[in-house]
Amino acid sequence: MTQSIEPHFRRLLVTGGAGFIGSCFVRDRMARRDGTQIVVLDKLTYAGNRANLAAVEADPEQAARFRFVVGDIADSHIVAPLVAEADAVVNFAAESHVDRSILEPVDFLRTDVLGVHVLLEACREQQARALAGDRASAPRLLQVSTDEVYGSVETGESREGDRLEPRSPYSSAKAGGELLARSYFVTYGLDVVITRGSNTYGPFHHPEKLIPLFITNAIDDQQLPLYGDGLQRRDWLYVADHAGAIGHVLEHGRSGEIYNVPAANERTNRDVVAALLERLGKPWSLVRTVADRPGHDRRYAMDGTKLAALGWKNAMPFEEGLAATVDWFRDNEAWWRPIKSGQWEEYYRRQYSARLANSRDAG
Ligand code: NAD
Ligand code: TYD
Repeated sequence: MTQSIEPHFRRLLVTGGAGFIGSCFVRDRMARRDGTQIVVLDKLTYAGNRANLAAVEADPEQAARFRFVVGDIADSHIVAPLVAEADAVVNFAAESHVDRSILEPVDFLRTDVLGVHVLLEACREQQARALAGDRASAPRLLQVSTDEVYGSVETGESREGDRLEPRSPYSSAKAGGELLARSYFVTYGLDVVITRGSNTYGPFHHPEKLIPLFITNAIDDQQLPLYGDGLQRRDWLYVADHAGAIGHVLEHGRSGEIYNVPAANERTNRDVVAALLERLGKPWSLVRTVADRPGHDRRYAMDGTKLAALGWKNAMPFEEGLAATVDWFRDNEAWWRPIKSGQWEEYYRRQYSARLANSRDAG
């Protein structure tokens, strides 16, 4: 894995750093002990969890370089002073679950589009200060985007210049956020880079998503709701590889450019579920075929030539990453059980009750 030794950006503002991928980025970056200072700004929605950063906060050397601020990226009063003290902003903050975007899209627009706008405006303010000689340079903004902005790709692999055809409220909002970010590069010359990562999995993954939902349900011998025929295909990227690629693009990416972050681990949902059940020693009979997600994207796949040319290579093979993930969930019930209670129960009922009541054997 290629990594820079001396980071260009010593003071980072990491928005959404209490979530799944953002917290991995923060933990890994702080553990390098290279002097990087990180401020995390996170709204602590249902998906944010300060426990994800416990390793950083419990380590005195890391804690001295770290600050946690609870707040909304769409609130300019909170954002502006934090951006003023940052060399770079890495924006992970988002509403991130497709199924929730289908139930209630408005929060996705607020955070994934308007929130990005507030971050961009704060960067523009700092660009003006840099031009006036009040700071050395404008902050760089890395916008974390997703392969879902390409829409469903039946064959071949999406390249960075391809048309965006997002098909869910989530992916449409993410496309809006990254298009706006790129427009600030073109229009105002702001230093913006964009990554489009593929489906990510690993420790600390919120149990609403396929892999952690199915692992934790299976541990409890509960049914696993597989949408439609289960032959949809995703390209599974280990979380530390995704976080590492984002760090690499932050340091080495060219301003105004977009970088795909694929994994080259394309699998059907059925194959993924069979593999995790095998690792857990649980039977396939737990799997139930349920009503499909409306507008369900059949396949995502991206070409990774551009990121490879920048010097990045993923490290984790899928089978090893999945085994490590299953084992982590088995060993960390104290992390996920509280998440699967309270508000969660209402969400689970809304999303799955009728589906499971009308489910059938998954064959
Ligand atoms: P997540 O849902 O686990 O975490 C999102 C974090 O953002 C949470 O900590 C939440 O509290 C915070 N947040 C939400 N709204 C906020 C707001 N308005 N202000 C401040 N904080 C807010 O998401 P994740 O899976 O870690 O994804 C991180 C980023 O990566 C997202 O932008 C997502 O679109 C993108 N992405 C995710 C995947 C994936 O498979 N998980 C793949 C590609 C891209
Ligand atoms: P998900 O983890 O929600 O990621 P995304 O929709 O962003 O790719 O879903 C991954 C795949 O798993 C997707 O094809 C939908 C499917 N899926 C199910 O079959 N059942 C479920 O309960 C969930 C959450 C997802």
